Amino acid sequence: MAPKKVIAVVGATGAQGGGLVRAILNDKTGEFAARAITRDPGSPKARDLAALGAEVVAANVDDPESLKRAFTGAHGAFCVTFFWDHFSAEKEIAEARNMAAAAKAAGVRHVIWSTLEDTRRWVPLDDNRMPTLHGKYKVPHFDGKGEANQIFLDLGLPVTLLNTSFYWDNFIYFGAGPKPGPDGVLALTFPMGDKRLPGIAAEDIGKCALGIFRAGKEYVGQSVGIAGEHLTGAQLAAKLTRALGREVRYSDVPPEVYRKFGFPGADDMGNMFQFKRDFEQDFVGARSIEVSRRLNPELQTFDTWLAANARRIPIEGA
Ligand SMILES: NC(=O)c1ccc[n+]([C@@H]2O[C@H](COP(=O)([O-])OP(=O)(O)OC[C@H]3O[C@@H](n4cnc5c(N)ncnc54)[C@H](OP(=O)(O)O)[C@@H]3O)[C@@H](O)[C@H]2O)c1
Repeated sequence: MAPKKVIAVVGATGAQGGGLVRAILNDKTGEFAARAITRDPGSPKARDLAALGAEVVAANVDDPESLKRAFTGAHGAFCVTFFWDHFSAEKEIAEARNMAAAAKAAGVRHVIWSTLEDTRRWVPLDDNRMPTLHGKYKVPHFDGKGEANQIFLDLGLPVTLLNTSFYWDNFIYFGAGPKPGPDGVLALTFPMGDKRLPGIAAEDIGKCALGIFRAGKEYVGQSVGIAGEHLTGAQLAAKLTRALGREVRYSDVPPEVYRKFGFPGADDMGNMFQFKRDFEQDFVGARSIEVSRRLNPELQTFDTWLAANARRIPIEGA
């Protein structure tokens, strides 16, 4: 039997990378082996991955030499950055450069770069529909990733640009779930009007990435967008209502109100929702559910995700 081809996975103890490591390990007869990259191989999450059968190696995306060691001998590399750990698009770009250089040095055969749109292609800095943030971005946590696409392309890497979607898991972990309004009724609040928000179960991102590695050359040099469903705020609220057994209303607020909500990154998130609202056709059009399901036949709908996760959504006062 041919030896398994190693996929080196950045962010292996997190949402995207963790989904990929688990997808590889669950595919017992598959062609790939998982190399889980973490800053701390001794952490409980890293030990769990080792117990499941992953090779666990230490590297830091800020340390180019550690990345080169971690990518050496790998067939594939899954590259992701962690905007919400530091709120810096510049840092993400520098980290993407480190990962791309390491993939090049190691001669990796297939790289997946987990990215998002550079929204400045649609909303130039002099477009005042939304404020410019951090001096040169409209949606910093999108724009840095989108700008970094070119780094992978310029190095001539065999790369697939993977455009991800809003995780429904944000309703559990990111404080984005329904909250009681002044009348006590739960409200799901974001500024998208009646436009559709592409969403996905975070675990499905890694499963789709495995589908891309499996398809080999088919997606090299391509952009692939993934989503589980494209749902409006009203549709999300109706499904939440059924799953929670308690009324949830969609509350559409103007982006300028959302930007001032005061939590860290509210301005970035407000601009992001406005971008998705104003360019719905392009944003939704770039994320095919059919392609996502072909890559990952287990792709969850929002109802499937809710059936497993609704009880984990924290509800104030419940
Ligand atoms: N939330 C959403 O809806 C959404 C949607 C689309 C895209 N995104 C993007 O997804 C990205 C985050 O991915 P995620 O959700 O998979 O992250 P995550 O769950 O927060 O996990 C990140 C993992 O990466 C590792 N890590 C952090 N800093 C590192 C470093 N300097 N070097 C090496 N590893 C490091 C950590 O593992 P160790 O501690 O084990 O090292 C951590 O477990 C963000 O850039 C965000 O913009 C989010």
